Amino acid sequence: MNGNGLAVLCQNVVKTYAAGSQTITALQGIDMEVRVGELMMLVGPSGCGKTTLISVIAGILDQDSGLCSVFGQDLLKLSSREKLKFRAENIGFVFQAYNLLPTLSAAENVSIPLIINGMDRHEAVRKANGVLEQVGLGNRSAALPSQLSGGQQQRVAIARALVHDPRLIVCDEPTSALDHETGRHVLELLKSVAVDSSRALVIVTHDARIFDFADRIAQMDDGKIVKVQQSRTDDEQRRV
Ligand SMILES: Nc1ncnc2c1ncn2[C@@H]1O[C@H](COP(=O)(O)OP(=O)(O)OP(=O)(O)O)[C@@H](O)[C@H]1O
Ligand SMILES: [Mg+2]
Repeated sequence: MNGNGLAVLCQNVVKTYAAGSQTITALQGIDMEVRVGELMMLVGPSGCGKTTLISVIAGILDQDSGLCSVFGQDLLKLSSREKLKFRAENIGFVFQAYNLLPTLSAAENVSIPLIINGMDRHEAVRKANGVLEQVGLGNRSAALPSQLSGGQQQRVAIARALVHDPRLIVCDEPTSALDHETGRHVLELLKSVAVDSSRALVIVTHDARIFDFADRIAQMDDGKIVKVQQSRTDDEQRRV
């Protein structure tokens, strides 16, 4: 780990998309830090740039300008092969639309990050089954995604982001398909395995029911971060 205690550092990050003859500026100069040991939530209206920002942080998209570094590594300085390796070893990502492979079972989907990192297939599926157990799907590990409910598919996607024990986990609306109790259980699990003295968790959410898990909440609007708040459960806030 780098010495400055930062899991993520974004400085003046700009990202545009070309849509036909139009240019859409999705990120208009983002400055943000996520410290190790922190659960940062990202909130804001639909279309304000949340998915774009976490895609840049996770190395899925390259920004047009500005700096984005993860554990001190400037992602733009890596070749595409190095970036894939860095992501596979350090980052877990839960996609808004889950992105499960339809022809693979739940356990096979979850095992993918381990296999990419060189683990034997049999051992990888065994470990995947253990994480599926933790998200309450131990008895559905042989099911294909199409045989699972939306909430079950979402939990498979979360298990896949956790399984290789990454230092940074980034989740896009991880509780959108979950009932209150399952959502809180999944948040407790995510927080217990993904936040410690060398790890951090970034969660995009509209779900006010889980705000109390956050250490800080960054509010976005129109491609910018407009406010960063300490969570109300923070000691400092309690004294106010
Ligand atoms: N591939 C793309 N091509 C063109 N424009 C895009 C693309 N992806 C996103 N955008 C645009 O960029 C802006 C930010 O989109 P983004 O998906 O980051 O928003 P979001 O905050 O995640 O929204 P939501 O809460 O609905 O998921 C929007 O105006 C969107 O239409
Ligand atoms: Mg989104």
